[in-house]
Amino acid sequence: MAEPRLAVRRRSCPPSDRKRRRPSGKPGDVCSPVALKTPSSGGEGPPTEIPCSNDSEEDMFGDYDGFYGNDSLLEQVDDTEHKYLQDKNLAIKAAGDITLGNLQSGVHQKKQDNFSTLENMVALKADKEDAIQMNENDSMDSNQELTESILADLPSSQLLYLEKMDEVSSVSRISAASERRNNCMNSSSDKVRSLSSFCPDADHRNRPATIASDSKCDLCKTESLKDHLKSAMTGNAKAQLLQVSRTKQLREAALSEEICIAKKTIESSSVDIGPFYGLPSKVKELLRQFRGIETLYEWQHDCLMLEPLQQRKNLIYSLPTSGGKTLVAEILMLQELLCRQKDVLMILPYVALVQEKVRGLSSFGLELGFLVEEYAGSKGRFPPIKRRLKKSLYVATIEKGHALVNALIESERMGDLGLVVVDELHMLGEGSRGAALEMTLAKILYTSKSTQIIGMSATLSNVGDLQKFLQAEYYTNNFRPVELKEYVKIGDTIYEVDSKTGEGFTFSRLLNFKYSSNLEKADPDHIIALVTEVIPKYSCLVFCPTKKNCENVSLMVSKYLKIEFRAHREKEKQDLIKNLKSIGNGSVCPVLKQTIPFGIAYHHSGLTNDERKTIEEAYSAGILCLLACTATLAAGVNLPARRVILRAPYVASDFLKKNQYKQMIGRAGRAGIDSAGESILIVQEKDKHLVWDLVNSPLENCYSHLLLELTKGIQSLLLSLVGLKIAVTQEECNNFLCRTLLGVQQQLLLKEKSLSEIIKDGLENLIEKGLLKGRMSEKDHNSQSALTITPLGRATYKGSVDLAYCNLLYRELKKGLEGLVLETNLHLLYLATPYDLTYNCSPDWMIYFRQFNQLSAAEQKVVDIVGVPESFITKKASGQAIRKNVDIAVVNRLYLTFVLYALLKETNIWSVSEKFNMSRGYVQNLLNSAASFASCVLRFCEELEEFWVYKALLTELTKQLTYCVKMELIPLMEVAGVLEARAKQLYNAGYKTLAHLANANPEAMIRMIEHLSRRQAKQIVSSAKMLLSEKAEALQEEAEELLKVPTDIPGTY
Ligand SMILES: Nc1ncnc2c1ncn2[C@@H]1O[C@H](COP(=O)(O)OP(=O)(O)OP(=O)(O)O)[C@@H](O)[C@H]1O
Ligand SMILES: [Mg+2]
Repeated sequence: MAEPRLAVRRRSCPPSDRKRRRPSGKPGDVCSPVALKTPSSGGEGPPTEIPCSNDSEEDMFGDYDGFYGNDSLLEQVDDTEHKYLQDKNLAIKAAGDITLGNLQSGVHQKKQDNFSTLENMVALKADKEDAIQMNENDSMDSNQELTESILADLPSSQLLYLEKMDEVSSVSRISAASERRNNCMNSSSDKVRSLSSFCPDADHRNRPATIASDSKCDLCKTESLKDHLKSAMTGNAKAQLLQVSRTKQLREAALSEEICIAKKTIESSSVDIGPFYGLPSKVKELLRQFRGIETLYEWQHDCLMLEPLQQRKNLIYSLPTSGGKTLVAEILMLQELLCRQKDVLMILPYVALVQEKVRGLSSFGLELGFLVEEYAGSKGRFPPIKRRLKKSLYVATIEKGHALVNALIESERMGDLGLVVVDELHMLGEGSRGAALEMTLAKILYTSKSTQIIGMSATLSNVGDLQKFLQAEYYTNNFRPVELKEYVKIGDTIYEVDSKTGEGFTFSRLLNFKYSSNLEKADPDHIIALVTEVIPKYSCLVFCPTKKNCENVSLMVSKYLKIEFRAHREKEKQDLIKNLKSIGNGSVCPVLKQTIPFGIAYHHSGLTNDERKTIEEAYSAGILCLLACTATLAAGVNLPARRVILRAPYVASDFLKKNQYKQMIGRAGRAGIDSAGESILIVQEKDKHLVWDLVNSPLENCYSHLLLELTKGIQSLLLSLVGLKIAVTQEECNNFLCRTLLGVQQQLLLKEKSLSEIIKDGLENLIEKGLLKGRMSEKDHNSQSALTITPLGRATYKGSVDLAYCNLLYRELKKGLEGLVLETNLHLLYLATPYDLTYNCSPDWMIYFRQFNQLSAAEQKVVDIVGVPESFITKKASGQAIRKNVDIAVVNRLYLTFVLYALLKETNIWSVSEKFNMSRGYVQNLLNSAASFASCVLRFCEELEEFWVYKALLTELTKQLTYCVKMELIPLMEVAGVLEARAKQLYNAGYKTLAHLANANPEAMIRMIEHLSRRQAKQIVSSAKMLLSEKAEALQEEAEELLKVPTDIPGTY
């Protein structure tokens, strides 16, 4: 019976059509609904067509007698399956084992119980009922389409089997659908792996519903993958008994195709490789082990089960701070890496957050067999190394994420990127980084239909605009695992923030604390009264408007705290000071020295990276109980804080924005760290009305910054669009820009000029600057003449160089070619000194003069070449009038170069900051920026042949600036999160290489290294392992590439 149907199906799809519809050879593609919707979009592998000389099915599968008993084939299949399992170290469970984990069913059961309350909490944009109805149909349709596509490409053996399974699964689907419509959610798990198991969506969709377990389902649930194939082949072999035998050649062709399909089937089955949201149970185990997460929150489960997600639609989700947003994104990333076998990009706003994430996910990567690659500061390779075996999770800052996407587009590898996750999506509305994020996302949307985008934030307002821009669905929920109580203190009265009352506040209590007159003068806002209600037992963060204020508050509080506070964890606090002293090469900040004995420290950008990390670790461990900090600790950070105090409703001199307020108070009561959380905003009587507005107003809207950041925004975008050939005519640029957030908000944001006028002006400007070539028509705003990028233009966008400086950089590099002084690295350092810091730099002329006097002849020559006359510095230092016309930007830049020069020589931030009378935080920031800019200049030079000589020089310089330590520590500091102080400790304890760290025993490490927790030791070892394996794989891949026999050797066929 099956045969005629089989033949009809195959004939109904002509070879050309089949070719078009054939998914790529990659397993994920086979089942990707997106790939099905857009069959011609990227990533299509070479079609493995059945020989077309004969289009009869009989010919394809004639005489499989031998095949029926062909153990070697089954062995091959077995081997492939076995190897696959071994490679991935993942258990592909037999269908019979497929039960939803306790976790999932537990959550699900809970969902039943709380069904009505849940409905109130969850606000999916679309009407829920309608959505279910609609999605149900969608799912049926896409299943149908999917099935047909698979069938079109499978040989008859699989078809025969699948036909049979189709009957079974259609029963299942219908029953699942009808059950869901009836809202009869049952906690029992889906025990069926039917045809839908070829599609991740289908499997997920069916999970929550009970599926009627008829006998056929029971039959198939007990079949392993191997059994599936065996059965398919058996069916095929039997079918062949009816066929007429054909030539041996055809038989062999068919046989080899069968093997190929069998292998593919095994691989494609990886779309659902386990019971935990399609992932192996090991993931659940790892979450428990590494994160202490036992069960998912109900919203997390709901969100993961959303229909739009199952259909791989883009999604924005928004929940309060500490709502657990990251975990959902992480599960989706693992699905992409393990099930769909695609690379993933995770974008985070700060370098420190990227490093923390790399450390946290490395252990998952090691256990589950994927790579975690850091793209922050000067780290990251462009384009990324193409891995043959493992998939990569790129964890990147916004800037590096943008450069990575550019590189993938240029190398036509966007198809490899399955998922992009953007944490803190509200950053879209923040300055040049917002513009960079917008460009990145717009390029992904435009160039790769198969790349899914997920964005999350706690502080989103105009979601509609963002949805339109990202073509995304929206999920929101008010869930916060730890309740956060919001208070405002005016005078000594504390009010609870209660937006339901007309006032916005309700009286809570009076602050009761006896103040002496001295204390009253020192602490008129009664901060001490507020903090001593919680410390030292619990932790407290005090957000202050300025850096200086942080230091003052920490000093003031420690000065007036009772002496008993010193006794709390005294020894550890002494050790902490010792530790900070060794970090500072013998120096420790006098403020910290005074405050730390009381468990108090300040935290702002004036600390060095090492100090900042040490203080954060001590605070997390409870050794410090109070941090007076700036907004640097406001977003995404998981630190303990029973109470968050906002010392004033200001950031610097600006009144606090609602978004900032929400992020700051959101640090209180973090799940898993605190069981309660509260915030107190200290308000002066005069600001009362402003605070009322603050508390009651909605979150600020998120607006495009493409226009505000001209050279780092729209112009830079237009340049890269032409450079990457995404859009080469004015009209194409218009089309692209219409799909950006700026395009969505154009009516609101563009008052004077239309978008097409702005584009026209932008393109003309780029032509004028020599970055683009081509002609623009005078009037036509929709010109179709193609533009091309010049070498300088290409170097500019590839080096991520601000358009405001690209011509200057070119001229200076060119000048360097005429006489680069290499006796010292001062000249090279000057070329890598970031331009943007020079404008806010005000040199201390006496120090500058002193530096000048110490210059060697070679260094003096550098100064002459760059064009800073000694007479100018001398006159400045002695306060004389200056008539000479000197470029002050060059003078300032050279001053910063002197600072960097001293840093590379002395490798001691403390002594250098003293020498130049700068804060150590500023010096640290200069060093970080210079490392990053040096890597940009390097990429700039790589694109311009005439600058070939700079490549080797800048590669080395970038490395020196990135680490700025003695050479021997560099291999250790390559490991994410290992900073200089830790590297020194490790080195002195005998861990001298990356291999030492990767193979270290964490327990032994703890014994040998002071102030190292077990968790930190484990993270260092797993991050080192990850880096080592990533480096080794890269070398192996390079070797294989070298040894690959070309297919086009002349004289061979
Ligand atoms: N299901 C869970 N069970 C227990 N703890 C969880 C669960 N999900 C997340 N957490 C923990 O909750 C804490 C906060 O989660 P997360 O950092 O994801 O918050 P967030 O929503 O991103 O907040 P923010 O907007 O402030 O960044 C983390 O320590 C995380 O490990
Ligand atoms: Mg977060």
